[in-house]
Amino acid sequence: MSGQRQIRNLALIGFMGTGKSSTGRWIALQMHYDFVDTDDLIEKRAGKPITKIFAEDGEPAFRELERQIVGELATRNRTVIATGGGLGADEENLASLKRHALVVCLWATPEGVWRRVNSQAHRPLLNDPDPMGRIRTLLAQRTPVYRQADVLVNTEFRSVREVAQHVMHEFQVARQRTVPREKPNPATHPRTGF
Ligand code: S3P
Repeated sequence: MSGQRQIRNLALIGFMGTGKSSTGRWIALQMHYDFVDTDDLIEKRAGKPITKIFAEDGEPAFRELERQIVGELATRNRTVIATGGGLGADEENLASLKRHALVVCLWATPEGVWRRVNSQAHRPLLNDPDPMGRIRTLLAQRTPVYRQADVLVNTEFRSVREVAQHVMHEFQVARQRTVPREKPNPATHPRTGF
């Protein structure tokens, strides 16, 4: 895959509540990149909130919308992409994102996730009598795929700004590695010109 890989975009994957959207928005502002959030795109396309998509159409219909959006993202340029927690846990979605983006996984422990999501009610997968048990199970199932991201960044007890700065640094390093450098000019670099 590395032969055709172009790092034009930055994709944030990771479990619910790891700060993908807030971190992504912050980075996009700093780098003057566009920002997209796959959950927002899906809600617009479906014309209803995610809780309703799950309730009325079922999770498979939601995952199909995710796959469509992932395919469309391949045409983006200079875009920070925040993904829904399940999107980056799918091997095909991940492979597709890697073709045009550096994929960074934001990481937190089940306890860290719970601290951030327990006051929110918009995540149908956590609408469970034992949400903490559900977080542990889902996170364990998804970890093997999340770990295939290019970079893993721990978000535990770190501010959005700290995490964003870490991610931006990784992005700049990756871009320097993959964007071809200009050839040295022999007049200005006499010792490296040949
Ligand atoms: C999901 C995570 C949510 C949203 C949907 C399903 C998941 O996004 O896509 O509720 O499967 O983990 P966030 O990670 O932004 O909460």
